[in-house]
Formats: sequence, C-alpha cells, structure tokens
Amino acid sequence: MIGNESGTPVLKGKRAVVTGGSRGIGAAVVRRLLDAGADVLTTARSAGAVPEGAAFAEADVRTRAGAEALAAAAREVLGGVDVLVHNAGGARPFANSSAIPDEEWQEALDLNYLASVRLDSLLVPGMKERRSGVVVHVSSAAVRTPLGPFLHYTAAKAALENYSRGLALELAPFGVRVNTVTPGRVATPGGEATREQWARLGAAAGEGATAAVPLGREGRPDDIAHAVLFLVSDRAAWLTGSNLVVDGGEFPR
Ligand SMILES: NC(=O)c1ccc[n+]([C@@H]2O[C@H](COP(=O)([O-])OP(=O)(O)OC[C@H]3O[C@@H](n4cnc5c(N)ncnc54)[C@H](OP(=O)(O)O)[C@@H]3O)[C@@H](O)[C@H]2O)c1
Repeated sequence: MIGNESGTPVLKGKRAVVTGGSRGIGAAVVRRLLDAGADVLTTARSAGAVPEGAAFAEADVRTRAGAEALAAAAREVLGGVDVLVHNAGGARPFANSSAIPDEEWQEALDLNYLASVRLDSLLVPGMKERRSGVVVHVSSAAVRTPLGPFLHYTAAKAALENYSRGLALELAPFGVRVNTVTPGRVATPGGEATREQWARLGAAAGEGATAAVPLGREGRPDDIAHAVLFLVSDRAAWLTGSNLVVDGGEFPR
C-alpha cells in the first residue's frame, strides 16, 4: 500500500479510469492505483489479464462510440472520474513511410491521439465543474527520433504531446492538471511484438532497436506506472503541462 506520512493511501476515495489496462504498462498502472487506494475502471477490447480489484468495461477507444461507452460506464460504475490515464496505444511498423496505408495512418491517429481527445472531451467537463482532476497522456520516446517505419505512430504521439500541453494550460485555472508520461522501450506484450515485427523488416529498419539504454536494461511496466502514480497524486500538485520522460536515459541522443 502506498501511503502518505500518516499512512493514508494517497488516492483513497479517488475514482480512476485507465485505458488499456489488460496487460503491459496499463495493467501495471491499474495495480499501482489500486494499491494507492483508488477505485479503478479500466478498458480494452477484451478483458485479458485485468488486475483483480479493478472494474472492466469492454470498449474500443479508437472510435467516438467506444469513448462514449467508456464514459457512460465510468459514470455508472464510479459515479465520476477524478483521475484519467490514457494508456492504450501502439502501431505496427512498415518498411518505410510510403508503405504506410491511409487506413493505418487513420488508425494510428485514432488510437494514439484522437482517443484521448474524445475521451477528455467527455470526462474533463466533470473535472472542471468539480474544480479538481488529473489527466495523464502516455506518449512514446520514439517521438524524439522519428523513423520512417513508425511515422504514423510518432506523428500521432507528437500531436498528443502538443495537445496535452495546450489542454494543461486551458484547464489550469479550473484546478485540473494534465501531464504526459513518455516511456522509452518497455518490456510488454505490445512492445515486444512491435520490436519483433520491426526486426523482421530488415537490419536497416531494426537498427535503432539494438541501441544501448544508458541505465543498462529495458524498462519494466512498473517503471512507468510509478511515474504515473506520482503525477496523479497530490505530490505532483504543482505539476501541469509537463512531460516526464522515463526511458533509462536513452533519449535524446
Ligand atoms: N512498450 C513500450 O516499449 C512502449 C514504449 C513507448 C510508449 N509506449 C506506449 O505505452 C502505452 C502502453 O503500451 P504497452 O506496451 O503496454 O502496450 P500493450 O502491451 O500492447 O497493451 C496495450 C493495452 O491497450 C489495449 N488496447 C489496444 N488497442 C485498444 C483499443 N483500440 N481500445 C481499447 N484498448 C486498446 C490493449 O488491450 P486490447 O488489445 O485487448 O484492446 C492492452 O490492454 C501505449 O500508449 C504505447 O504507445 C510503449
């Protein structure tokens, strides 16, 4: 249990929504928030390995309908949302930027950028009304070194970072904080699958995958989850519009 000096869990009584909590970084975030005393609702397209203790609502966040279904479930299950973590994301690599089909560009934008915009538009008004709330967007360190095979993904995450910063400034007068967490390479089912697909595209395309991480290892989902927990807690009360890069020192080079 993660508590403050008096032993009270730091998120006791807080109602949290985490997208993509059925595995990887999202599941670790769900566990950390539960440990800290929050009530947590998570979502994915299938339940997978949602941590025990969390409520689950099946939704595809790439669509407006999915975002609306999740927002409705949040109101029904939690009654309102104090903490919103946009974690669902990813994209598969292609040989080069010209090989990325239109529909993959659209899907990357929907999942990695517009999903957050849509869900924020549904859940942030309640935070504004209560003059309290915290939003975290999960980006990617790949934004720092955009490469052809991933341009649909990195461009979408770059848009997310810009949007997150602007939203933070817009919502600051209402007591709502918005921050970004930027992971480097983290050992998760999605991360491993993507790196395997990248390596299969050939040595040139996979070159960056073998670069050393200065701290000497890949990230663990909990490395990112602890950063998210900090940002959504009152310990980060004076942090908004920031981007916490958690990458073992890998970027920028
Ligand atoms: N792992 C890394 O190395 C790394 C590095 C930088 C940034 N990131 C970012 O960190 C976040 C988490 O990555 P991860 O590696 O933990 O991914 P992951 O292992 O693939 O897990 C992704 C989670 O999101 C859910 N999800 C995917 N598409 C969804 C959709 N359309 N609607 C609802 N839920 C969906 C998945 O469940 P379903 O498939 O069942 O829907 C799963 O729960 C992503 O935003 C990713 O871009 C990861």
